Amino acid sequence: MELAGNAAVIGGGSGIGRGISLALGAAGLGVAIGDIDPDTAAAVRDEIAAVGGKAVSLAVDGTSSRSLEEFASFAVQSLGPVNVVSTNVGIAHEKPLADATDAEWDWMLRFNFLSVTRAVGTFIPVLRRAGRPGGFIITASMSALIAPTMQSWDGSHRGMYTTTKHALHGYAEILRHELAQEDITVTMLSPGLVTTKMNETSARFAPGSDGASAEPGSFPAIPDDGLDPVELGRLTVAAHAAGRFRIPVPADFREMLQARTASILDDLDFAEELRRTTMSPRRPGAR
Ligand SMILES: NC(=O)c1ccc[n+]([C@@H]2O[C@H](COP(=O)([O-])OP(=O)(O)OC[C@H]3O[C@@H](n4cnc5c(N)ncnc54)[C@H](O)[C@@H]3O)[C@@H](O)[C@H]2O)c1
Repeated sequence: MELAGNAAVIGGGSGIGRGISLALGAAGLGVAIGDIDPDTAAAVRDEIAAVGGKAVSLAVDGTSSRSLEEFASFAVQSLGPVNVVSTNVGIAHEKPLADATDAEWDWMLRFNFLSVTRAVGTFIPVLRRAGRPGGFIITASMSALIAPTMQSWDGSHRGMYTTTKHALHGYAEILRHELAQEDITVTMLSPGLVTTKMNETSARFAPGSDGASAEPGSFPAIPDDGLDPVELGRLTVAAHAAGRFRIPVPADFREMLQARTASILDDLDFAEELRRTTMSPRRPGAR
């Protein structure tokens, strides 16, 4: 698909969302940048405008359907029909699953999962009205595809994060299938470590906070040798234009992805052997 038209980027003021915003602007799309932090959103808007692109920005709470509705109206009024939407809201919260409280689960699901379902719910009619090819670019994580447990770079408890990102994988895959006939494609970005300020954002929006926490969070700072979010933005926009679904990067994760697939197939073989040896033979015609 040749990407053209206008885009709305939620959580576009920093990190991966900024990288995607810049790449969309460079590809010639008008870009509406929404972020809970209006100053960073405005800074990205100015970066795009400085190189001749068209961009607008707004303060948006990506976990609120009402705020997303306002953002969608603003984007269409300012730029015209919107046909590409990128969702980037997400935080990490380090805790063993056995200790996680109900309130923490509500919070994590709101940021990492419901922010996406609400963005899709809000923008689906907008994309349908736009009447030109486009789609959703959902920023998930490599943790949508594997459960790194203690293999993660610092050995910390990433269970809640991994669970919410796994939910996004199922959601995005079915959504892509459902929208396939409509020229609305769904791409799920699944990177490993990306050098962003995610640790600061996660601290600021730690479960139960008011978004103004100055306390250091439990999520450690991301090392400098992670993926570059601006390069990742370019790669993501190119893969979306090519109609790809998952974007798992970098290739270092190949072995972990293979190990997970192999372990599922091993369980399948084991269960099949059990079924063969312990269950009564299937009657003809039985399901
Ligand atoms: N950094 C990594 O290593 C990494 C790896 C894989 C996936 N991710 C995912 O990438 C996404 C973006 O994270 P990042 O690493 O770019 O972090 P980041 O903190 O640099 O950027 C996140 C942006 O989202 C904004 N934001 C937070 N809550 C918001 C809300 N309710 N409404 C609107 N905007 C909000 C923040 O202000 C910030 O500008 C997250 O979903 C994260 O899980 C990050």
